[in-house]
Amino acid sequence: MRVSATSALAAGAIATLASASDNYLGFNSGAMKTDQSAKFKSDFLAEFNTAQGLKGAPGKFDAVRLYTNIQAYSVSDPIEAFDAAVESNTKILLGLWTSGTDNIDNEMTALKSGLKKHGKDLASLIIGVSIGSEDLYRISLTGLKNDPDGVGAGPDVITKFIKEFKSNFADSDISSVPIGHVDTWDAWTNGTNKAVIDAVDWIGVDEYPYYEEGKGNNIKNAGTLFDNAYDAPSRPLWGEAVASVENAEYYWQEVGCRRLFNKTPTFWYNLRDSNGANKQSFAITNNLSTTPRFNLTCPDHFDTDSSSSSSTGTGTATSTSASTATSGAGSSTTGGVSPSSSATESGSGSGSGPTSSSTSTPSTTAVPGSGAASLTMMGATFLVAVFGTAFALI
Ligand SMILES: *[C@@H]1O[C@H](CO)[C@@H](O)[C@H](O)[C@H]1NC(C)=O
Ligand SMILES: *[C@@H]1O[C@H](CO)[C@@H](O)[C@H](O)[C@H]1NC(C)=O
Ligand SMILES: *[C@@H]1O[C@H](CO)[C@@H](O)[C@H](O)[C@H]1NC(C)=O
Repeated sequence: MRVSATSALAAGAIATLASASDNYLGFNSGAMKTDQSAKFKSDFLAEFNTAQGLKGAPGKFDAVRLYTNIQAYSVSDPIEAFDAAVESNTKILLGLWTSGTDNIDNEMTALKSGLKKHGKDLASLIIGVSIGSEDLYRISLTGLKNDPDGVGAGPDVITKFIKEFKSNFADSDISSVPIGHVDTWDAWTNGTNKAVIDAVDWIGVDEYPYYEEGKGNNIKNAGTLFDNAYDAPSRPLWGEAVASVENAEYYWQEVGCRRLFNKTPTFWYNLRDSNGANKQSFAITNNLSTTPRFNLTCPDHFDTDSSSSSSTGTGTATSTSASTATSGAGSSTTGGVSPSSSATESGSGSGSGPTSSSTSTPSTTAVPGSGAASLTMMGATFLVAVFGTAFALI
């Protein structure tokens, strides 16, 4: 990571983040529905309106993390989530799909078209860009064990795309938006991937304790497991994990309320389900009702002993080391989102895999579990944003 070159950027981004809202609260949104049909503007708008209107929510969920700029069913049209975000004033963490391809031309074309169409109305909503999602995980030993046919991308590919993106948008309205990459924690601690750390402004980490079997991942331990991973990063949690609405609520309270909401930018997984390959459900709403499936209001007391864990949130950490940076991130050894591998054109992305072409064992691979993904802004100060955390409801 280019500390001197990026600290101004990072600081600027943080100022923006801090002034725009105390902390981001959002969900992740794939390009497709669970039946693999495309989402269009009305679908995104319905999601964004539900998110903002959630009864009992501990804050306003008015941010969204996307996995692609490309509208599903098109080659390089801008995703209609942009239109919906502008209309509903929803902040966006952009995503570019980078696995199974040797270029990001269509992704960049789609984004440029979106910016041309909406100008600053869109640019001002963009809070960051993730070049890729779990690409490194999918070609890691764990990733390949969970899905031998998984298609990912190596550090050389990711860094090349990061450079290309930066140079292509250097003179655009989003030139100062921080660029990062989201992956599982063990991808970040794998020295072979260090070049990616050097190339980004922030690090995003996915954490899905629900899937981490063999580590005592029953729901009562979820908070502690999240903390261990978030702070270490070590190993979070699906051996003892039981998917239920009750457990999803408990996880919301012990991880979301206790540790994340209004303390660190958080993109919960998820408002509604979008990955048809997942057996589990993570949707906190039924058919986008603003009355959620469990009580979102935060309690006053928590079970998890927080005393040994460091505080989260907008920190003023001085270290820019990888371990510090990633300490804000939990992790899971199983991926959070599992799009299908060849998602570029359809702009799939997690939760929106086009056709599950290659997933031979979808149940183990891609299920986003109870987990969280984090976005760590690196630099003199850094922010840790959590992208995908939740506990399966079904
Ligand atoms: C470490 O990363 C490299 C490159 O991404 C990958 O090929 C390798 O399998 C990873 N190691 C482990 C233990 O997963
Ligand atoms: C979900 O809501 C939409 C819009 O209100 C409605 O058209 C649709 O029938 C509902 N689906 C289910 C399964 O309730
Ligand atoms: C929701 O949770 C809050 C905080 O624990 C509590 O005060 C409130 O009564 C609950 N609401 C319902 C409908 O159970």
